[in-house]
Amino acid sequence: MKYKQRLVLFLIVLVCLVFLSLTFSFNTEPEEPTQNTVKSNQRSLHASEPEDHVTPGPTTPPPPIDYTRPWKIWSNWVREDVLYPNGVLHSTEMDLILYGLSSYPVTKLDVGYKGTQLKASMYLEGGQRTVFKPMRFSRDAIVDGPDDPCKGQDRHNGEIASFHLESILGYRLAPPVAGRKINLTALLPVTSKALYDTYLTEDGNTCFYGKCLYCKPSEKACGKGDIMEGSVTIWLPDWYQMKTYRHPYQRTYIPDVKAKWEVDDDYCRTRLLTPNSYYYNILPDVFDTMVLDFLVGNADRHHFETYALHGLKEGRLMHIDNGKSFGNPNHDEMSILTPLKQCCKLKNSTWEKLRHLKTQGLSQLLDKSLKRDPLYPVLTQAHLLAIDRRLDVFIGEVLKCIQQYGRSNVLFDKWPQF
Ligand SMILES: *[C@@H]1O[C@H](CO)[C@@H](O)[C@H](O)[C@H]1NC(C)=O
Ligand SMILES: *[C@@H]1O[C@H](CO)[C@@H](O)[C@H](O)[C@H]1NC(C)=O
Repeated sequence: MKYKQRLVLFLIVLVCLVFLSLTFSFNTEPEEPTQNTVKSNQRSLHASEPEDHVTPGPTTPPPPIDYTRPWKIWSNWVREDVLYPNGVLHSTEMDLILYGLSSYPVTKLDVGYKGTQLKASMYLEGGQRTVFKPMRFSRDAIVDGPDDPCKGQDRHNGEIASFHLESILGYRLAPPVAGRKINLTALLPVTSKALYDTYLTEDGNTCFYGKCLYCKPSEKACGKGDIMEGSVTIWLPDWYQMKTYRHPYQRTYIPDVKAKWEVDDDYCRTRLLTPNSYYYNILPDVFDTMVLDFLVGNADRHHFETYALHGLKEGRLMHIDNGKSFGNPNHDEMSILTPLKQCCKLKNSTWEKLRHLKTQGLSQLLDKSLKRDPLYPVLTQAHLLAIDRRLDVFIGEVLKCIQQYGRSNVLFDKWPQF
């Protein structure tokens, strides 16, 4: 009995030792694997994110689309210094926003807000307001020229292309735009009376002329049959506040009447680069906008809007309203470069970016980006080539400034304060 008891005790101790040593070896396992487990758990969580619904069987209805998702992403992105984060132009989030703009159901079509150009206010499922600009010209129409650089109505494809180009330039101050075709007949139940009152039919095509400063029946936009092509620009969240500046290089829009900057080559030095100049602090953004406007051929930027949270610091100059672009691929409107020629100043970061984009082939980058739009091809080859040509012209003008004033007097990292 004594031996039996000892044997049992020995066996129990042995079992305990084996058990303990196993536990011990588990506990002293290096930290790494534990972390790896956590990591791979996270990874699998992420991986399963898009398919967190059970695959619907034949009897389960598909999950309802959350139409608010793209608009929530948008309103979370917007800040007063940039409208969306760096590097998201080709992200799934931006794709979702652009997809929403180009395909979510229209809940209301109405006359546009203030302004000189025909457009419509379009409200999309999920509660997003947008601006619809109808197509007025074919892609290869030539709409402006040396006689009047601001000629012609807005180009809807110019709005789309300018958004992509602006983003590639790294500014991120233009709200997203996507192309779309709408069926005016199908949208009649959600079309406001104010807009419908401007509808008319011509050669079997449905047209409208809307409400704006220059809106009249002879200036109508027409669809092909009842299908109208256009651009859809997302509206900015309205908890922000807009402030409007006159462009310091605004045109007079009166033939034979010249603006100060057109007749005085010292305009920049004596009126803008001075301590009490109203425009001094926004000049770096004016120069950046000039780059965009020159590349797209937009000579019509008469005002700027800044965007700020109510009561907080003022935001940047945004690149809203880019429709007067891509009018004539055979013409470079040099007057757009007057701020550079007179002030000879440019953000160093913009200069570095442009030289980098030149080596990358700017027009190719743009064309590749535009392939994501449902209205691709958005620009003709001639317009794409014009962008590369204008980039060369611009770089040449900056080099002239550098030659004349020295690099450190032209390129700045921080805008000097008085
Ligand atoms: C536009 O919508 C109307 C009404 O739903 C429909 O009858 C018409 O066929 C549509 N047009 C085209 C070209 O699809
Ligand atoms: C401009 O930026 C580049 C690259 O960051 C830098 O090497 C260069 O010194 C800067 N030039 C000026 C004038 O600030």
